[in-house]
Formats: sequence, C-alpha cells, structure tokens
Amino acid sequence: MSSDSDIQTTSRGFFCSLCNANLPNMPSVDQHVKGRKHQTLSTVRATRKTQEEHSVFVSGIKPEISQSDVTEYFQQFGAVTDVIMDKDKGVYAIVQFSETESIQSALSCVEHKMKGLKVRVKPREKKEFKLIPKKKNDPQNLQQVLNRLTPELCQQASVDAQMKYIVERFQLGENEKKARSLLVQLLQEVFVEFFPDSQILPFGSSVNTFGIHSCDLDLFLDLENTKVFQAQAKSSTEQAVEGVPDDGRSEDSILSDIDLSTASPAELLDLVATILIRCVPSVHKVHAVSTARLPVVKFHHRELNLQGDITLNNRLGVRNTRFLQLCSGVEERLRPLVYTIRYWAKQKQLAGNPSGAGPLLNNYALTLLIIFYLQNCDPPVLPTVDQLKDMACEEEECEIEGWNCTFPSQPIAVQPSKNTQDLSSLLSDFFSFYAKFDFASSVISLREGHALPIVNFLSQAKEDETMQEENPTKAHPHRPKLGPLNLLDPFELSHNVAGNLNERALRSFQKECQEAEKYCRSLQYQHKSTKGKPWGLLRLFTPHVDVQHNKPEQLTIDIPFKATSLPEVLRDEPHVAGDAFRLPWFQKVCSSVEVVLKTVLKCHVDAPKEGLCREDAAVDAEDMETTSASISASLNDSTESVESQNEATPSSAAVVGAKRPLSSGSDSSVSPHGKKPRLAKRRRPQIPPWTCVQKHVVWAGRRKVRRELVKDADCKPEGSCVELESQVTAYIAEKEPELREPLEFKVQLLMVGGTESTRALLKLEPSSDKAGVFQDFFHFLEGFLPKMVETVLQKEGRQA
Ligand code: UTP
Repeated sequence: MSSDSDIQTTSRGFFCSLCNANLPNMPSVDQHVKGRKHQTLSTVRATRKTQEEHSVFVSGIKPEISQSDVTEYFQQFGAVTDVIMDKDKGVYAIVQFSETESIQSALSCVEHKMKGLKVRVKPREKKEFKLIPKKKNDPQNLQQVLNRLTPELCQQASVDAQMKYIVERFQLGENEKKARSLLVQLLQEVFVEFFPDSQILPFGSSVNTFGIHSCDLDLFLDLENTKVFQAQAKSSTEQAVEGVPDDGRSEDSILSDIDLSTASPAELLDLVATILIRCVPSVHKVHAVSTARLPVVKFHHRELNLQGDITLNNRLGVRNTRFLQLCSGVEERLRPLVYTIRYWAKQKQLAGNPSGAGPLLNNYALTLLIIFYLQNCDPPVLPTVDQLKDMACEEEECEIEGWNCTFPSQPIAVQPSKNTQDLSSLLSDFFSFYAKFDFASSVISLREGHALPIVNFLSQAKEDETMQEENPTKAHPHRPKLGPLNLLDPFELSHNVAGNLNERALRSFQKECQEAEKYCRSLQYQHKSTKGKPWGLLRLFTPHVDVQHNKPEQLTIDIPFKATSLPEVLRDEPHVAGDAFRLPWFQKVCSSVEVVLKTVLKCHVDAPKEGLCREDAAVDAEDMETTSASISASLNDSTESVESQNEATPSSAAVVGAKRPLSSGSDSSVSPHGKKPRLAKRRRPQIPPWTCVQKHVVWAGRRKVRRELVKDADCKPEGSCVELESQVTAYIAEKEPELREPLEFKVQLLMVGGTESTRALLKLEPSSDKAGVFQDFFHFLEGFLPKMVETVLQKEGRQA
C-alpha cells in the first residue's frame, strides 16, 4: 500500500510526502510507515486511485436528472458500482464502473443524452493525492495575513498610527459582539430551564477588550444560586408534607436527578454537555475535558463559526476579566500595546497554544506581562494591584476563594498616569524591559508591581516539603508551581499563570525581545519609508521561521564545556583563568574528536596542520596576531606544554599554530601588545575543516555487536569505553560489506559562547554521499560523539 517513493531523503533526515512529516532517521521511518496515519492515508490514496481508474466525469447534468437516472443510463456501458453527484446537484457526477473497459466504451459513444438532455462525458483527471495541511498557525497563512496588512500599515503616518490601526483591524466588530451576546442570552435561557437561578457569564477575550475576530467564547456557568435553590427545594418538599407550598420549578427539572452539592465535576460537565447537544441549535463538536486545570465543556457553534468553552468554577476568571477591563479603561494606551504585542507574539510563535494547552505563553499571561511592564515604567503607566485595592470603596470589596480581588469598579476612581510616552516608545521599551529581565531569579508580582526574589519561594517550597513529611494528613498551603517563567496571577497568588512554559519557550521569548529591541533602535522602525518599503511595525511582524527546517544543510553537533576535562590546576577556578580555560579545553576536544573519528570509527581523517583561523574574515592582521599570541599565552599558562600537545595529535598542532613566540606572562587576558584579546566577544576560535572518509556502515547494529563482544563482562553503555567501541567498529568493518561508494564529509570545529556557555560546535557537511547514508551517520554521531569525546577526555585526564 505504501510506496518507497513517499519517503525522500533530505539533508535533515527523511520526509514523507504522503503525510507531510519530517523523520529524523531510518528507525523512525519504519515506525512511521507502520503507523496509523500513514496506513490510513495509503488506504485512502489506493481507494481514490482505484476510483479514478474506474470512473468517468459527467458534466452538464440538469436538475431533473436524478442519481438513479445516471446509474440506469450508464449501465449500458458496463456494471456501475457507484455514482457520486455534486452537492448542489445538477452540475456534475462521477460514475464508477466495476471494470475499466467500460470507461472506453462510454467514452467512445459520440453523444450522451439523458431524458432528452445532452451531457458530456470525459475521462477522470489524474490528480496527485495530497494531504492538505491544517491551516491553523500555518506560517504561510500568517504570511498571507501579513501580506494583506502590509500596504495598509505602510501607509500609516507613524508607529503610533500603525498600532492603532492594528486594533481597528483585529478587534471584535459590533456585529460580532452582538452575535456573541445573543448566543450567551440563548444559552442563559436554556440553562436556566435545567438549572434554576443559574447564570452564564462571559469572560476572557470576548469581553476583556482585547478580543480579536474569531477568538474563543469563554463562559462560566455559575451554579451557586442553583445549589441554594436546590437545597431550599429539598427542605420545602420536606416541609410541604407539613403544609408549606412548593414553587413547582423543580418538578421536571434535571435537578430531580442530580444533587449539585454532591455531584462530581465530571458528572456536572456531562450534564452540561448533554444539554448543549440536545437543546442548543447549531451547537456541535461538544466534549467535556475534565482533566484540565479548570474542567471545561468545549463546543463549536456552526452558524457563528465560534469555539466556546464552558467552565463551572471560574469566578476568579470573571473577576480578572473585570480587572483587565478596568486597566483598559484607565489607560487608553494599553489596548494598542496589547493588540500589537499579541500579534507580534503570534507571528513569532511565542504565544497562543494552538490546542489550548502547550508550552507557549497563553494570551492572559502575555497581557499580564504587558501590564507588569507598564507598572514598572518611569513614571508608571498603570498602578499596582495593591494600589488599586486602596483606591476602591467599601462596596467594591471583593473576596473570591479566599483571595482579595478588590479594585475600583470604574476607571474614574483611578488617577491618570503622569507618564507621557508615546505608543512607539512604550513598545520598544517593552522589548528592552524583557530582553534584559532576569527571569531566573524573579517571581513577577503585579500585586506588588515588582519582581520578588525567587529564593523566598524556593525556601517556602522546602518548608512545605518538610511539613508534608512531618504531617502528611494536614492541609498545606498552595504555592505557585515554579518554572522558567514565574508570573503570579494578580489575585490567585498561588497560581503561576506561565507555569506551563518550558525553558525553550522562555528562551525564544527573550531572544525575540532582544531582536525586537535591536530593531526598534533602527531608523526603519522610527521613520516612515518614503519609498514604500516596510517600516515601523512591519518588520517586527515577520513570521518566525524554523531555522533548523529551512537551513537543513547546517548539521551541527554540540559539545558543552565540562570543567572535569580541564587540567586539574584550572578545574576549580575557570572563571579566574578567563580564556585560558576555554582554549585548552577546545584544543582537547578537537584532539578527542579526531581520536573518535580516526581510532574509534575508523574514518580516514585529513586534518590540515595550519594555524588557528576564525569565522570573522574581516579582521586585521594585527588582531590575528593578538589572537594567536594570546592563545599561546593561555596555553602556556596551563600545566601542559604546547610542544607535547603538538606531538600528540595533528589537530592540536592546527589549533595552536602560533605566529609569535610564546609569552610567559601570567596575565592571560593581556596580549604581548598590551591589548585585550576580546576572544569571547569578537572571534570564534576554529580550525580549518577536516576532510573525512568513511567506507563502512559503522553506525548500524552497534548495540548487537557490543552485546556479543561483552557477553560475559558487565554490559557497558554505548560510548563509555574507547577500546570496546573501536572493537565494535572493527567487527562491523570486517563482517559487513563496504559501502558501494565511500561517504566523504567535511568537519568544521569551532568554539562558541562566552565564559558562561562555552561549547564546541562541529559542523558536518557531506561532500560526496552517493550511497545516501550521510543522514544516518549524522544521527548516529549526534548521540555517540559527545559521549565518546567525554570518555576520551576522561581517559586522557586519568593518564595525564
Ligand atoms: P486566554 O489565555 O485564552 O486569554 O484566557 P484570552 O484573552 O481569552 O485570549 P484568547 O483569544 O481566548 O486566546 C482566557 C481567560 O481565562 C482566564 C482569564 O480570565 C483569561 O482572560 N485565565 C486564563 C485565568 O484566569 N488564568 C489563567 O492562567 C489563564
């Protein structure tokens, strides 16, 4: 069913053109091909092909011709197995025969007439079967939206005008708001029938003033009053026996079947789902998600093309929506900022998890980050939540689930800000603020309007743990779940609204803020282009591109710095040694990589014995000398002599090829010219590329061979023993046939990162891969090489 032609080799592995899936290696290809998606699509494709080969296309069918007329007419050419009429009936039909010969017979007939009306019969077009990818979050789709937006934004007079235009372009229109409110009204009428005195309350983007076209409709079904009603009804039934009349509302209510005070959330959700399905027109795709942090019933409204969520316990959500509305009312610059930053974050794939849950920021968290930044402007644009609490009057006091949710109900109660910055500068300052923000040591508090030290929370967590151990049955205070980004909800202080974010998502967020900050300093941001070129916001909105996907030729392996591989004298104080620790380490990594490729994997390695060079080609000769001399100086500072290193491996010679005599000075950060070498910032030490040749499939079946070789010995994990791994390679090279064409590839080694994040990068690139094995080899190396280099470094360390 599946054909090999579906799987193509790419420079990052494999690609299944049937399923639009990237696959890293052969085992994943095997797994994918056996998987449900691939199997189903293969079956669908096979069925379509059979249909194509057995059918004809009939056009010009008039409304008075029915499906059975078509079947009957075409039976004269052979047995008809199926007739598909188009939906709007009367335009075309596809007639499928059981035998392919019938097609010829039908096509050879010069004129076709049904009920006296002429129709045309043509062979089926052979269409390539293609999976149409889902549109949501498709970068191409985002690009299309941006393409339409570009001329309009270009025409605006300033960045401020562009930001206001974004609001205009994306905000919910009056009709959309009306349609939503009618749906809410309808739901209210339906639910109150089943749950007397219940209330359905919208919250979130539909009503928080930051909604965009087609945003979700978040609803809270408040059953508190219904519970009271039910309790009263119960007692009145008991009393009715004693003569107190019942108001009759609960008689045929669903409430006679369920006790709200004892029903589980799952039971209630099921009930709500059933009511939606049975009683609300146009609602479909209803399902309850009881495992979410806040259990929810999801539905889709067909007519309005609207996704809705109903929760049963989200009074806090309704209150924090009121808080966002208040902030918008107090500060008119907030909406343009939120719309612009939300759009930027969407384009850069930083926020808006497609299926609700996921590792990215949710829109609520992103909005809170914006408000927190505005609280920290100088002078502040928005007050802290604690300050707002003090501005409220007695009637506005509010506590929900034990949390203080007090703030004024009207914006007028809040003094206008003294900050007069325009939107453009507030936006660029937002990026600067988070570009430098120390997320690792902070917990963001909108209530206090500043970052709290994370250590306080960590010690609380420790205390809780001890208390839990000592007294497991006692109820313990809820603490926020700490993660890479800690952003406390302004009211529910035990909730980290960014608790779902992973390290990578935070890194992307901060990196994009840094990029945006840089861009905002440029003239293109600040000044309208007179030549109609993209300017201002437009360049900020360029969709994120998956660099790895678009630049597959850059196959790199990362070897992070480890202090254990340093000479002992430097091990405890690498920060003091500066570049003196980085360079000898890099040199050792280079020679270890060479050992792994040559000795362990039996590659032929041609490593030029030239001096150290670097990526930055536009460096003057004097600088170059400074580099070499300072490297030498650094090496001289270490305990090992350069001469002995040079003898050890050719690559070490390549690294240390010094232009100047070695300096014996102890200050490694100063060159013989008295210049600072600035290695960490401006240059990337690297060695000229090696050319390597591999003739055997040394990566395939290694585990099996290893197991056989160490039969009785302790089973050693992969990459933990140089001798064993060399034996495995030798065994494979002897037993398995050579590659029909040897694999030739280039290896470029360079050192990157500053003192905090030193690492060696190996860039691999095939120069001749006629056997098509480079991908497999690379994926094997990705896992194997760093482990093996570590083993070689440790071994050398022991021998030194
Ligand atoms: P969203 O993150 O969906 O925000 O949270 P949104 O503004 O509605 O944006 P979209 O367009 O639907 O993505 C919806 C609401 O859920 C509550 C808030 O009231 C928020 O406005 N919420 C969300 C919380 O109370 N806590 C959370 O951690 C997340």
